[in-house]
Amino acid sequence: MKFFLFIYLFSIMIILFSIQSKSLSMSKEDGAIVYNDFCLRCHGPQGRSLTKTIPPLNNSDFLLNLKKSISIIKFGAKKPIFVNGKEYSGNSMIAQGLDDEEISDVLNFIRNSWDNSNETQVSAKDVNDIKEPL
Ligand code: HEC
Repeated sequence: MKFFLFIYLFSIMIILFSIQSKSLSMSKEDGAIVYNDFCLRCHGPQGRSLTKTIPPLNNSDFLLNLKKSISIIKFGAKKPIFVNGKEYSGNSMIAQGLDDEEISDVLNFIRNSWDNSNETQVSAKDVNDIKEPL
C-alpha cells in the first residue's frame, strides 16, 4: 500500500514539474543559445547589427510591438519595415525554422539584453497564437 502511495505522489510531482513553465531567466539562457546560433551573424553581438541594411535589436522600437516581433521571427519579413524611423527592405529577414518555444526564448533574450528590458515574459503560447504574418 505504501508503495502505491509513493508511486502516486511521485507521479503528481512529475506532472506538476512538467507543466510548470520556464522562468524568465531560464528562458533567457536558452534564448541566448538560439541567438548565437541563428541571429548573431546578422544582428551582431551587442544587438547593434553588422551592416546598414540590418536593423538594430538594441533599443529597437519595432520590438515594443510583441505581435509583429513574433511574426517577423516566425514567418520572416514579408514587406518593408521601419525601425527607429529608418526603412528596411524586408528582403533579408527570413524564417529560421525555429519552434514556438525557441522563438519565445530568443524574444525573452533580446527583449532583456543590452539596453533592452521588459518584465513581461513571452510564452510559447503567445507565439502559437500568431497564425499568419502581420
Ligand atoms: C540574414 C541576416 C539575418 C538573420 C540571420 C536574422 N535577421 Fe533579423 N532582420 C534582418 C533584417 C535585414 C531585418 C529587417 C527586415 C528586412 O529587411 O528583411 C531584420 C529584422 C528583424 C527584427 C525586426 C526589426 C528590429 O530590428 O527590431 C527582429 C525582431 C529580428 N530581425 C530578429 C531576429 C532574430 C531573433 C533572429 C534569429 C532567430 C534574426 N533576426 C535573424 C536580418 C537577419
